[in-house]
Amino acid sequence: MNFEFQKLSLSHAMTATVDALVVLWPSQVQPDSKAVEPVTRLVAQAIAHGDFDLKAGAVLSLYSQPGIATRHVVVVCSADNLPGQIRSAMQAAWGALKASKIKRLGVHVVGETSAQALQMALSSLADASYSYTTTLSKPKARSLKQVLVSSTHDSVELRQSVIHAQALVAGVELAKEWANRPANHATPTLLAETAKSIASGRAFKCEVLGPKEVAKLGMGAFMAVAQGSAEPLRFIVMRYNGASSSQAPVVLVGKGITFDTGGISIKPAAEMDEMKYDMGGAASVLGVFKALGELKPAINVIGLIPATENMPDGLAVKPGDVVTSMSGQTIEILNTDAEGRLVLCDALTYAERFKPKAVIDIATLTGACVIALGAVRTGLFSSDDTLAIQLQQAGETSGDTCWRMPLDDDYAEGLKSRFADVANVAGRAAGSVTAAKFLQRFTKSFTWAHLDIAGTAWRGGAAKGATGRPVGLLLQYLMSTAQAPAASKPDTQPQAADKTKPKARAASKD
Ligand code: BES
Ligand code: MN
Ligand code: ZN
Repeated sequence: MNFEFQKLSLSHAMTATVDALVVLWPSQVQPDSKAVEPVTRLVAQAIAHGDFDLKAGAVLSLYSQPGIATRHVVVVCSADNLPGQIRSAMQAAWGALKASKIKRLGVHVVGETSAQALQMALSSLADASYSYTTTLSKPKARSLKQVLVSSTHDSVELRQSVIHAQALVAGVELAKEWANRPANHATPTLLAETAKSIASGRAFKCEVLGPKEVAKLGMGAFMAVAQGSAEPLRFIVMRYNGASSSQAPVVLVGKGITFDTGGISIKPAAEMDEMKYDMGGAASVLGVFKALGELKPAINVIGLIPATENMPDGLAVKPGDVVTSMSGQTIEILNTDAEGRLVLCDALTYAERFKPKAVIDIATLTGACVIALGAVRTGLFSSDDTLAIQLQQAGETSGDTCWRMPLDDDYAEGLKSRFADVANVAGRAAGSVTAAKFLQRFTKSFTWAHLDIAGTAWRGGAAKGATGRPVGLLLQYLMSTAQAPAASKPDTQPQAADKTKPKARAASKD
C-alpha cells in the first residue's frame, strides 16, 4: 500500500482525486453550523438533530451530497486521538466503506494531529482492509492501493510518520502473510527463502544454516526438537548494517516453530491448527527486516530464526531425554511441548558472538501468557530496567503494547532437575515466568528482553488471523535507538504505565 501526505484544508481534501474520503474528527473540535464548507455544516446539523455525536467510533456517512465533490465521505469521531480510539475509528470507517471498490482513499485529520496519531490511523486502515489470499483458488483481491493523508498542519515529523507508516505496514503485512500460511506452505525451508529475498540489497546479508552446520555448532537443544520431523531444520541469520561496524547491533531472535504438535507430549486435537502460528516470532523478525529495508536507519540489527517443526515420530525426542545445549548446559526434556525455549536457548547462545547492545527474543512461548494477559498486551520480561522501559514506551507509542512481568529467582525453583543442569518445564503455576527464567539462563553475557506473544500474535475464532504484532513495537524501538544514539539514562526515560516496576538497578543481571 502506498501512502502520500499533503497539507490540505478540509474543503481542499474534498476536491482531491480520491474514490472516497474518511474524515477523522476529534471530540474537542466543535463544528461551526454556519461554515461554508459543507461537511462541517452537515456534521453540525447531525449533532444538532441527535443523529451523530462526538463520541469515540461514531460514524456519519455522507453520500452524493450537493457541494461535495467526493461521492462518499465518512466522518468518524476519533475522540481524544488516543491510539486505541483512532484504531476503532478507522475500523468503523472502513466498515462503512468496504462494500465499495476503493482504489485511492483520502484520509483527512481534523484539527491538531500528532505523528503518532497519523501513523496509527494509517496502520489501522491497512489492518482493517487486509485479507489473506495466498491459498485461496479464487481470492478477492484488495482494491485499496493508495491513501492520501491530509491535514491543515504540516511538519517534518508528520511527513516522516507517513513514511514510517508505509514501511511499518509493509513489514506487518509480510509478518501476517507468513504467519497465516498453513504449515505446508510455510516450512523452515520456505521461511529461509523468504529471509533471503527480503535481505537483498547492499545493507543486508542473509546466511542459512542447515542440519549439518547446526550440529557442528553443538545446538543440541534445537536439534532435539527437529529430530522428529521430516522437514529439515533451518537456522536463519539476517544482518542489516545501516551503521558502521563499530556500532554494536541489536539482535532479534524469533521462535520459528512452523508447526507445533507438541511432539510426543502431543497436544489435544481441538484448535491444534492454530499451532501453524507458532512461528509468529519468526514472522515478526522477517517483518521488521522488511521495514528496515524501506526505512534504512543508521543502526545495525541482526535477526536470528531457529526454524523447525515439532512432530511426534519414531525418531522424536522423548520425555526424560537429556540433551546438551550449545552453551554446554544439559537439559532434561520433561515435556516435548515446551519446545520453544529449547530452540531459543541455542539461538541466544549463538547471539553472544555479535557482542550485542541488546538481545530481544520474540516467541509464541506459553499458553500461560494468554491466561495472564489475554490478547491485549504482549508479555515483557527483562532484568534490565532501561531496556524494559524503552520497550514499554515503544509499545505505548506504536499502540502495540506490552506489560512487564517479574523475573524473581524464586520462580526458577521448579526448573531444578536430578538428571540434568536444568529441566525444560516447571509446574503449572506462573508458566510464562518459568519459561522466561529458563531462557534467562542463556543470556548472562548480554542485555536481554523476552516478548511472549502467545496471546497477541494472532486472533482465534471467526476472525482467525495473524495480527503482525509485535512488528510495530520492535520497529518503534529500533527507530528510537537510531534517533537517540547516546545511551539514554533510565531516569530521563518517559514513565510507562507500569508503576509496579522495581527501582533501577544499574547493569544488574539476575
Ligand atoms: N506454542 C506453545 C504455546 C502456545 C500455546 C501459544 C497455546 C499459544 C497458544 C508452546 O510451545 C507450548 O506448547 N507451551 C506449553 C508449555 C508447557 C508444556 C510447559 C504450554 O503453554 O502449554
Ligand atoms: Mn509446544
Ligand atoms: Zn510452541
